[in-house]
Amino acid sequence: MSSPEIKMAEISRRMISAKAEQFTESVIREMTRLAMKHNAVNLSQGFPDFAAPEEIKEAARQAISDDINQYAITWGAKPLRDAIVEKFESTQAVKYDPEREITICCGSTEAMMSAMMAIINPGDEIVVFEPFYENYGPDAILSGASPRFVRMQPPSPENPDWSFDRDELAAAFGTNTKAIILNTPNNPTGKVFTRSELEFIRDLCVRWNAYCVTDEIYEHILYDGTEHISMARIEGMRERTIVINGMSKTYSVTGWRVGWALAPPETTQAIRKVHDFLTVGAAAPLQQAGASALRSPQAYYENLAATYVKKRERLLRILEASGFTVYKPRGAYYIMTDISRFRFPADDPRFASPTKDVAFAKYLVQEIGVGCVPGSSFYNDPQDGGTQVRFTFCKKEETLSAAEARLVKLRLRTPLDSIN
Ligand SMILES: Cc1ncc(COP(=O)(O)O)c(C=O)c1O
Repeated sequence: MSSPEIKMAEISRRMISAKAEQFTESVIREMTRLAMKHNAVNLSQGFPDFAAPEEIKEAARQAISDDINQYAITWGAKPLRDAIVEKFESTQAVKYDPEREITICCGSTEAMMSAMMAIINPGDEIVVFEPFYENYGPDAILSGASPRFVRMQPPSPENPDWSFDRDELAAAFGTNTKAIILNTPNNPTGKVFTRSELEFIRDLCVRWNAYCVTDEIYEHILYDGTEHISMARIEGMRERTIVINGMSKTYSVTGWRVGWALAPPETTQAIRKVHDFLTVGAAAPLQQAGASALRSPQAYYENLAATYVKKRERLLRILEASGFTVYKPRGAYYIMTDISRFRFPADDPRFASPTKDVAFAKYLVQEIGVGCVPGSSFYNDPQDGGTQVRFTFCKKEETLSAAEARLVKLRLRTPLDSIN
């Protein structure tokens, strides 16, 4: 850098807010950029590389032809709000008022942020299961919440599901708890919370007068007969639940940026105000197309899950054959793995990193040509995810084949450490 550039950087650094200084750019999205740079097969970020359904694309084209080009009502186009309410009632048997209980946002990312900013005061605590979707960390910082993390343990021979200690969860709640952040089906673990777990969480929310903000974006991506139960369906929770969801994953349109928050009227009023001044509204023609998408026939959702179950089986086989310890997901489209058994040149300066998972992810993308996400990005203390990496399988068969061909090199080049 030239000296004027250095000076400018110094001035800017002093002007940056304390909040913005507390978090880094998204590791997941950085891994996608690295995969592109190294021409690697990108199994890091959870976006499909296959085409979205033709009917949904046609609905978007039609909306633009029909000149739906101006701002929609800030809390969302009426046809989409109506479709969301209908669908939620048919899948979860819970009714919402499309006039007073929905806010359409720019993706569920904005819905989560708007919800947090609408309910959090200084000093409020939120309970977050760990590992967690990385956005929840910056969401907490930006909204001013103090997170209390509760660890989920990976599956073991005694317990085949990711699990949490109920006493530990109970101890994380207290008078300052404003909300628990739930994500079911879960990214990155693939855990689908059971009714019994949800009822236990309900009892804590009621006891401590807390909200449950529940991110249900993978609601239709389920395996092995698991059922998605929304927290809003659990008795006593509709009035204290904010359901976050969106089009991204169910309709394979992550770039459309259409999501929503369902919440009781007073909470919705606050969410709508935040949303209005954050973004005004999501893209109007895509909201219109969303109204058609949400009325897709049941066969669409069945086919989606059936397609993903095959991809899950395939990537599980590939990763296991390559030497990873894999944790089989019950929902969503990610596989968490353990890399403790791998020896690789972690001391090579090209991969130098504070934790093994980051070094491994760099090695994998640069030397093997496959992108994954380091486990540490899902934990508060990076060391805790230091032996895990996450892969996604929301990819074409050709993409998975290309990853398989490259991961063979990993098997050949990287001796497994059978002692560790
Ligand atoms: C749990 C979870 N929530 C939200 C999102 C982002 O959703 P959207 O595209 O609707 O902002 C993702 C994306 O990976 C996710 O995994």
